[in-house]
Parts: sequence; C-alpha cells; structure tokens
Amino acid sequence: MSVTIGVVGSINLDLVASGAPLPQAGETVTGAQFAQHPGGKGANQALAARRLGAAVHMVGCVGDDALAETAMTLLRRDGVDVSNVMSELGTSTGVALIAVSPDGENQITVASGANTRVGPSDVAGLPNCDVILSQLEVPVTAVEAATRRAAETGALMAINLAPASGVSPQLLKDADLLIVNEIEAAFYGDALHERGGLVALTLGGDGAALFKMGQEIARVPAFEVDVVDTTGAGDTFCGALAVALAEGQPPEQALRFASAAAALAVTRPGAQPSLPNRAQVDALLGAS
Ligand code: RIB
Repeated sequence: MSVTIGVVGSINLDLVASGAPLPQAGETVTGAQFAQHPGGKGANQALAARRLGAAVHMVGCVGDDALAETAMTLLRRDGVDVSNVMSELGTSTGVALIAVSPDGENQITVASGANTRVGPSDVAGLPNCDVILSQLEVPVTAVEAATRRAAETGALMAINLAPASGVSPQLLKDADLLIVNEIEAAFYGDALHERGGLVALTLGGDGAALFKMGQEIARVPAFEVDVVDTTGAGDTFCGALAVALAEGQPPEQALRFASAAAALAVTRPGAQPSLPNRAQVDALLGAS
C-alpha cells in the first residue's frame, strides 16, 4: 500500500533563462534560451513524492490569472490531490524568475503572489497523512499550523527550511525532521541540532548526511551524474526522503534513496519536468 504525504507549500510558475552566464548585480547578459515550467518548492516536493509512488495531498494557493492553470498542470496530470489548493481573487500566481548557467548553477527570484495567502485554516483540509512536508515559501503561520496538525494526527512533520528565514525556536523543536542545504545550515546554526528530531543536510557534490542531536547517524556520497540544471534537486531530495521515511526505510537507505532521486533530477532541465519516477530511482540504486 502506498504511503500518504501532505504538502503545505508554494506553487509557482518558473520562467527560466538558461545557457548564459549568471549576471552580476547591475549586469545584463544575453544569449540565454527561454522556457517556462510549473514550479514552487511546495509543488515540486509534492510532485516528487507522487512520482515516487505516494498518495499526495497539496495545500496551497494560486491567483485568479492565466498563469495558475499552467502552474498546476503537472500536479493535476500526475494525480496530486489539489482539492485543497485555493484560488484567490485579485492576486497573481507566484512566479519564479530563474537564471541557469551553462554549468547548471542557478539564481532564483520569487514573486510570491498568492503563496502569501496560505493560512492556518487552509491546513484543516488535509486528511491524515504519514508525513506532512512544508517549506518556507508560504507564511510561517501555515507551517506552524501544519506542524500542529502533524502532532495531532500522528504524522511525521518534515520542514525544508528553504529559503532560509527567521522562524521561532519552537517551530524547529516541534519538527521531527528538518532538511537544509549548507547555506541554510549556516543560517540556522546550532539551533538545528539542539532538539530531539532529525536533521538532513544536503551537500551537493559531496552527498548528504543525517544527524540526530548533533550526532551523525548516516552519510552517503553523491551519485556521479552529468549536471544540466540543479533547479529542484533539493525539492526532489525532500519529497523522496519523505516517501522513504514514510515507507519505514532505515536512515541510511532513506538518505541513499533521496540522493539517487536528486541526482537524477540534476541531469535534466527544469524543476518539475526533471523529477524522476520510482523505476528510474530504483534503476540508479540497483546500478550503483
Ligand atoms: O527549489 C526550486 C524552486 O524554487 C523553483 O521551482 C522556484 O519556483 C522556486 O520556488
């Protein structure tokens, strides 16, 4: 039986310029190719979990503009339950302006739009889940409500602390799992580890590690792949780790599963178009 994941998070339309060097402040660069894809950390993580076999329920908000349907296309197509995604009159759908360099690094600016309208009451629509997963592209009050809901219903609460921003020490303590990259780990510092829950740290080309109360309990190296676009790799890792832990995979196996999914995501352009399915992740795990 498949596991159930609830995601409380952002939904964006990604407008991507790739193939030109990343601009410095005040600089204009030319020669990029344009593409648009559905994105947003919440939606990416929801779709990642769905493609890996979970039943997924998404709580979010889009605007009443033409961008909303495009932003929701892949969530709908792949069977994420979007009955708790609101459409807010008079607001614009979230948009991410993304520049991707020839070696796959990116810069992202988000115009949050309707994502700022996700509130605590929206979380009430979530059914019981094995894991509730959230990020910081929606108001922290919604993340706090998701955390309370997880505690009430016995779900594991996972928070991807991205993008790094101020949250209460209590929220960090209440989460069962915090997921950070190196920049976010430096931002939050010791507060990540002064609690009983797990911390997953992604290290790019150096793999990933899992900590409990400051002690490393698992570490995996990165899979060697050709990097095309790192956008959405962290989201893939989060969605996959949520699925693996919900399935009861032990820590090192879960970390390896999430790292394999993220490795596949960087080999293709775009966030949501690059998310792998279960068979692809199993094949990479089997081959290594
Ligand atoms: O993590 C990648 C995502 O960050 C993009 O899809 C973009 O929408 C921003 O939210």
